Amino acid sequence: MLDPVLARIDADLPQATNRLLALLRIPSISTDRAYAPDCEAAADWLVQDLADMGFRAAKHPTPGRPMVVGSGGEGDRHLLFYGHYDVQPVDPLNLWRSPPFEPAVEETPAGPVIRGRGAADDKGQLMTFVEACRAWIAVHGKLPARVTMFFEGEEESGSPSLIPFMESNRDLLRADVALICDTGLFDRDTPAITTMLRGLLGEEVTITGPRMDLHSGMYGGAAINPIRVLSRIIAGLHDEAGRVTVPGFYEGVEELPPDLRAQWESLGFDAEAFLGDVGLSVPAGEQGRSVLESIWARPTAEVNGISGGYAGDGFKTVLPSRATAKISFRLVGRQDPLKIRESFRAMVRAQVPADCTVEFHDHGASPASVMDTSSPAFEAARAALTDEWPRPAAFTGSGGSIPVAGYFKAILGMDSMLIGFGNDDDLIHSPNEKYDVRSFHKGIRSWARILAALS
Ligand code: BES
Ligand code: MN
Ligand code: MN
Repeated sequence: MLDPVLARIDADLPQATNRLLALLRIPSISTDRAYAPDCEAAADWLVQDLADMGFRAAKHPTPGRPMVVGSGGEGDRHLLFYGHYDVQPVDPLNLWRSPPFEPAVEETPAGPVIRGRGAADDKGQLMTFVEACRAWIAVHGKLPARVTMFFEGEEESGSPSLIPFMESNRDLLRADVALICDTGLFDRDTPAITTMLRGLLGEEVTITGPRMDLHSGMYGGAAINPIRVLSRIIAGLHDEAGRVTVPGFYEGVEELPPDLRAQWESLGFDAEAFLGDVGLSVPAGEQGRSVLESIWARPTAEVNGISGGYAGDGFKTVLPSRATAKISFRLVGRQDPLKIRESFRAMVRAQVPADCTVEFHDHGASPASVMDTSSPAFEAARAALTDEWPRPAAFTGSGGSIPVAGYFKAILGMDSMLIGFGNDDDLIHSPNEKYDVRSFHKGIRSWARILAALS
């Protein structure tokens, strides 16, 4: 059953690559309303592609970007596949060596890559599963299992429509297990099933002082400066040991179970290379924690951006009226995002001096999720991945957040398996994003093997 499908995948790789390039040309940036028509176009493209494969597929409107759902195949097993067709904004545009939405295959010393926004996050990954199904259908006439494809267009902007959509389309989406392709390999040769994801809490804080921007010579020394106020608050978010100071922050955070710690240690993660690849050498997180533990199993607070006053070209002697910071918290274990939001806001309010006001803006909240690895599907998928890659598949954590995994469990009672083929150097969310052709090719082959194993 499997071998002719793998052969078909190998033979069809140039065409599969061209289809991915076509999808990558559509600038489906979800966070910016100006690109809403492009998100519609990407959803239409996917509906058409699924229909071409014989799926019953449709675009489902939401208050934001549309969802795409398609169903195909038959059998006792029902698999739901999730990916997202929206992409991150491209700025800073001047750092791209080729235009982000003019994707191309590029030769590099490490092998060919597909360069362009969304190549790895998540259009290239999403298409690995679609191409595996296409090859299976081309060879055998039909899929070995019932398959529902579920593509979201708001993942990069916090999935505001996801919960209501899942709640009102339970029957359309419920399956035996969800497969999510939006994570990475452990390393170039070691595939991974991600079993732990961090949660995410996003907060925007604006401090306002004087009614308008002021001349810093006329008023400096007399007027309060909101950037100073905000900076002091931000500086107090961590203590000397790198721990987050929000009261109650560590409630629900547990130490790693010894067996998991041992398993992670056996992976031989190279922290020096991990940091070295981005020009760093000294771990900057909580004292006394390994880099891997800090990323996969510890919570954080990070400032993602600050604005206020004048930061344009040249110089302006201004005393700003307002200062804003965007702050995100990565959450683990049973940390409660809503409790932490309230505690953070109370902590900030307590530090706002006379003559200043504070406003908060909610940018979403999702708890951490941990997968139940005891089901036989996990071992079956692990074996299938091990057949494709040079080294055996690992169960790993991930520092990123994919809230849908938790919702599949909470709303549809369904376990998720997170399997992806990204590399650390794919530059997701950054200029010059790429996806290795090897990831794309072996990713498609991996899904064909997993389809066979789970059917
Ligand atoms: N695919 C990523 C999550 C990810 C990144 C998983 C790296 C594994 C390794 C996803 O598209 C993403 O970027 N998620 C956002 C959350 C979202 C609410 C903006 C994140 O993690 O910041
Ligand atoms: Mn993603
Ligand atoms: Mn992303």
